[in-house]
Amino acid sequence: MPHAPAQLPRSLYVHVPFCAHRCGYCDFVTTSRSPEMHERYVAALRRELELRSPETTAPGSFDTIFIGGGTPTLLEPAALEALLTFTRELAAPGAEVTIECNPETVDAALARRLVDGGVHRVSLGAQSFSPHVLATLERRAEPDTVRRAVATLREAGVSRLSLDLIWGVPGQTNADVTHDLVEALKLEPDHLSAYELEFKPGTRLTHAQGGVEAALTNLGEQGDDFYDLVIDHLEAAGWWWYETANFARTPDERCRHNLAYWQADPWVGIGVGAVETLHASNDGAGSGVAAGGLHRRTNLPNVPRWLNAVEAGELPPSRDEVVDARTARTERVMLGLRLDAPVNIAAQDLFDGIVDAAGLERVAELELGSVTMVPSPDGVLRGDVELRLTRRGRMLQGSVGSLLLDP
Ligand SMILES: C[S@@+](CC[C@H](N)C(=O)[O-])C[C@H]1O[C@@H](n2cnc3c(N)ncnc32)[C@H](O)[C@@H]1O
Ligand code: SF4
Repeated sequence: MPHAPAQLPRSLYVHVPFCAHRCGYCDFVTTSRSPEMHERYVAALRRELELRSPETTAPGSFDTIFIGGGTPTLLEPAALEALLTFTRELAAPGAEVTIECNPETVDAALARRLVDGGVHRVSLGAQSFSPHVLATLERRAEPDTVRRAVATLREAGVSRLSLDLIWGVPGQTNADVTHDLVEALKLEPDHLSAYELEFKPGTRLTHAQGGVEAALTNLGEQGDDFYDLVIDHLEAAGWWWYETANFARTPDERCRHNLAYWQADPWVGIGVGAVETLHASNDGAGSGVAAGGLHRRTNLPNVPRWLNAVEAGELPPSRDEVVDARTARTERVMLGLRLDAPVNIAAQDLFDGIVDAAGLERVAELELGSVTMVPSPDGVLRGDVELRLTRRGRMLQGSVGSLLLDP
């Protein structure tokens, strides 16, 4: 089948690993290294982009930039300003620039620095408004810290504000989850991410539960109830459940950066631990990736090694993976199942066994989705179909993926 034309990346992920302490449930790449390192780290981010992807260092190279962490807002003021100067240069007119922010780092000076630095969107890690849930997660912010942070960010002129919530925390009840949603909506955010807690191996929280299996057994069926409750509550309040864990007040408030991931667009990632995915013909000459495939790179999570390499003018150590064209097609379908949009399945995907035809029938039989034929652009029915998941199908998106892609 003809491969989709390779696309130049228009999205940039910037990873800032510094955190004041490690929360008991988190296994992201973080470090509590001293503030003296912040300016060096930011200078090295700029250098890494030049080394890695010189064609994307021109002003206006990116339509979406996501500064994630770690805690980017923990950066020393001079380092944060240098980072935002860098991202502002790279942002195209009308670009979306998001920064992740911990509530306890917010004061008027930080909020002003973000707005003056060209940040349009702040994603604030609220997690919960129940003190016992925050304590179990070992979060540093109290519910009132979150409320004050929202007010301060709004006063400074942050126009797009997202809150992260989390469900499935040991000891959390349905009433706690409802309380979190009510309190979050009172703050009038524009976007909400409601993540299921993942019990990551090796974290203090998972250890305290007796391991991953034991933690999931303790949670039992309650997880499904929480998820149901979150969707019901937010939809009843007029919010759009546009992705597995994400809700927007209006279509324009969807996170454009994350939409690029879910639509399988390519992106550049810089910083220690950052992941990047490029399409075959724009990942540098001689990469050995066949047309239609992907080149995925994950920088190794070691701050000194990353810094030393980049400062010496070398690419930092990374794990590199070639994703063949067939697997890339499978990934595209899997990602599409996350979104509130019909998934297009080409006749060729069925013919090549990328999507299992019997699995598709089974999804329809189980009322997890409905399948319709779609005509080609010339109006002829050639066996292309569109799969639209039901609410239950969307909730069980992982199982639908297994039926379709892993028969
Ligand atoms: C990695 S953090 C970075 C932003 C910021 N430091 C914060 O904590 O909000 C981004 C989001 O990932 C979530 N997260 C971290 N570990 C998680 C886990 N094990 N399961 C689900 N969400 C997790 C955090 O709660 C946070 O909302
Ligand atoms: S959840 Fe956020 S603040 Fe906590 S350790 Fe992870 S990245 Fe840092």
